[in-house]
Amino acid sequence: MEEKKIKIFDTTLRDGEQVPGCQLHGREKLIIAKALDQLGVDIIEAGFPVSSPADFEAVKTIAENMQNAAVCGLTRAVKKDIEVAAEALKPAKRPRIHTGIGTSDLHVFTKLRMTKEEVIERGVEAVKYAKKFVEDVEFYAEDAGRTENEYLARVIEAVIKAGATVVNIPDTTGYCLPEEYGAKIRYLKENVKGIDKVDISAHCHNDLGLATANSIAGVQNGVTQVECTINGIGERAGNTSMEEVVMIIKKRSDLPFYTDINTKMFTTISKMVSERMNMPVQPNKAIVGRNAFAHSSGIHQDGVIKHRLNYEIIDPAEVGADGSEIVLTARSGHAALRFRLEKLGVVLSKEDLDKVYQEFLVVADRTGLVEDEDLKKLVADYATINLD
Ligand code: KIV
Ligand code: ZN
Repeated sequence: MEEKKIKIFDTTLRDGEQVPGCQLHGREKLIIAKALDQLGVDIIEAGFPVSSPADFEAVKTIAENMQNAAVCGLTRAVKKDIEVAAEALKPAKRPRIHTGIGTSDLHVFTKLRMTKEEVIERGVEAVKYAKKFVEDVEFYAEDAGRTENEYLARVIEAVIKAGATVVNIPDTTGYCLPEEYGAKIRYLKENVKGIDKVDISAHCHNDLGLATANSIAGVQNGVTQVECTINGIGERAGNTSMEEVVMIIKKRSDLPFYTDINTKMFTTISKMVSERMNMPVQPNKAIVGRNAFAHSSGIHQDGVIKHRLNYEIIDPAEVGADGSEIVLTARSGHAALRFRLEKLGVVLSKEDLDKVYQEFLVVADRTGLVEDEDLKKLVADYATINLD
């Protein structure tokens, strides 16, 4: 089956950077943008230019420096926003304006205080105005996840007619279930005139922990671009995590899709974003968490030592991680202890290993984690092979 490319739209520097405490100076934004460009993302959303002079400058500098990725600036459906974004994006080889408006009843009636027809008109005007400055215009229907499909289809059809090249269907509040989000995309594919000529984008938030699942459901139903961030950072519970979506597409060969991402850079770029944005990565985070390739229970360790694939579906090298780790705790078994001792060059007889194992458990219960230095002390009286 022919594989279809899924474009990766990174919003670490816009939706990710909205997180309190994660704000970056322009120079740091540029460093991360350069890494994202090397990583192979298709589009970098560099910021929200009208929001502050510093963000305007950051978007402009990124626009000047990207070699491959398109550079995108966010706007509301407001002329001034669009003019400022267009100015910041002027130096970009491939500029994109991302404009839009809320479409759910809640947004239309309580936030915007407009009628549904006025919202469509405003969206259409914004797209037409943005087209005066750039060819590539993406439209977002904010809170599309909670927007009734029939009305959403009318909005999307109108903005495509106005010239939108990409239509973004955000699950802004992370409310949808995967099947529901997939069905929404399918409904649009089946009911919106002109939709086959544009990219459909998934922009999912993680309030119920479903951002990645929803994005993949979108891809399975016609999404051609996924909006995501490194480490899944973003407003509230975050955005779709880029490393998760990309690795799902890569590992599941039954899904007929591919991306252009160099996955070997994931570990490095994850650390870079975490450090510069002051946002620690949870240890059990898929793909890039400290424990993503660490095995600590006896049963798992025995299985991994016999054959890595028993408990690992990703080769750590594929994402630039150091390698699988056999961690020694009080839950570890003989196989793990023998394995780690052999790595230190220590080979023990079965009887000696049994004795050392009992002493090891006492240390492990006391310290939690047994390191190489502890092991060397434990085997000092038994070692048959040089410990240096
Ligand atoms: O979550 C959202 O709806 C957004 C839009 C501005 C694209 O971030
Ligand atoms: Zn968002």
